[in-house]
Amino acid sequence: MQRKGRLLILALASLLVLERTMILDTFPSAEEFYKTYWGQKPFVVHGAIDQAVFEGVIDGDSLAGLALEEDIKSRIVMTAPEGGKWTCEHGPFEEDRFGTLGEENWSLLVQNVEQYHTDTAKLLQSFYFAPRWLMDDIMVSYSTAGGSVGPHTDSYHVFLVQGMGWRKWTIGESPVQNEDYIEGLDLKVLKGSVQGAEIEVGIGDVIYIPPYFAHEGITTQEAMTFSVGFLGPKLSELMVEYGHYLEQMHQGNKHYGGTGLDVESAGFAIAPGARDSIQNDLINALRSNDFSIWLAEYFSMPSHDDIENIDTRYEPLSDQDLLERLQDRQNLYRPEHIKISMTTSSDETINLAAYGAALPTSPAHNKLVHWLNQNNTLSMQDIEALGGQDALMTLITYLYNQNILFFENEALDL
Ligand code: SIN
Ligand code: CO
Repeated sequence: MQRKGRLLILALASLLVLERTMILDTFPSAEEFYKTYWGQKPFVVHGAIDQAVFEGVIDGDSLAGLALEEDIKSRIVMTAPEGGKWTCEHGPFEEDRFGTLGEENWSLLVQNVEQYHTDTAKLLQSFYFAPRWLMDDIMVSYSTAGGSVGPHTDSYHVFLVQGMGWRKWTIGESPVQNEDYIEGLDLKVLKGSVQGAEIEVGIGDVIYIPPYFAHEGITTQEAMTFSVGFLGPKLSELMVEYGHYLEQMHQGNKHYGGTGLDVESAGFAIAPGARDSIQNDLINALRSNDFSIWLAEYFSMPSHDDIENIDTRYEPLSDQDLLERLQDRQNLYRPEHIKISMTTSSDETINLAAYGAALPTSPAHNKLVHWLNQNNTLSMQDIEALGGQDALMTLITYLYNQNILFFENEALDL
């Protein structure tokens, strides 16, 4: 056999092996996920999410409705036909735009859908093994046959959840070192095609793609894809935001007083001792319990709402009112789109935060806080198991009155 033919067979065989190692029967355990996959290796799970879960998620028409709104980020991407150009238009769109797009080769993508269509957020229940505090948004795409955003990489971790129809994905086996994008497009499309495993997905299938792994999905049958993205802030953002927090704290925000300066700092020279002392002040501010509290608050910040406009309940309940309803077998739940986050201070206090504000907790609440980390419903039975009503009702009532917990079947009072 000719050398070229042998090389081709070897390449095809290695792609087949790659495809097989990527396909898992179920989601990995949390241990396996962080050890083997998170940030390191893509995987695919066919039928990972029960089809019934998709009954409540947003459909194509409602997605188009969101794309008409001023404050919601949306794009229409037209696929480049042979030799043509990719195009990307940004929303808001006029309603009649959708009638002019044709039957094929386009996608509509809308960001932060979990905030605007809260039933779509229920998809997040499948991702408790992931670091939910880093969850950025659920971007939803509706695509017609041939629809694609092209070969690309993302800077974030993403679970691509197939919610309807069929798509063929090609997934690279390692991160792209020097991304080379087609110039002059309002869209990041890699110049070359993606080399890697080819996988077809249908409803309930989930693909995990680590940052900078090239991927390309092409729709074979009218599809909805839910991209659950995880992206951490930049260091500069953290510094700026923590700086604002310190500013509001006053007592931790002292002027640098120049204590201990010596002759080396005369004139314009900032001597090494002065530099070290300023650096130490910053390090001390970062090592304080304030930092742990702020971190919980920062990661619980809603991504779309103006924080000033978030209100507590119009009709707050007392501990007793709430207890009676719980005893009457009405269960509480935490809607998945409401971000909570928790940190532990050096004195072991748990800082639980929601809507960008830390909530009052004590060590007696630890079990409940850990429960909220992995669960989203709370019954009277759970309350008994987590420490009992005497220890917990005040916090539970607080969570309810702050619009963090709701009764099942209750309309969201937000
Ligand atoms: C899409 O749904 O077409 C884009 C998702 C992605 O590749 O991140
Ligand atoms: Co992507």
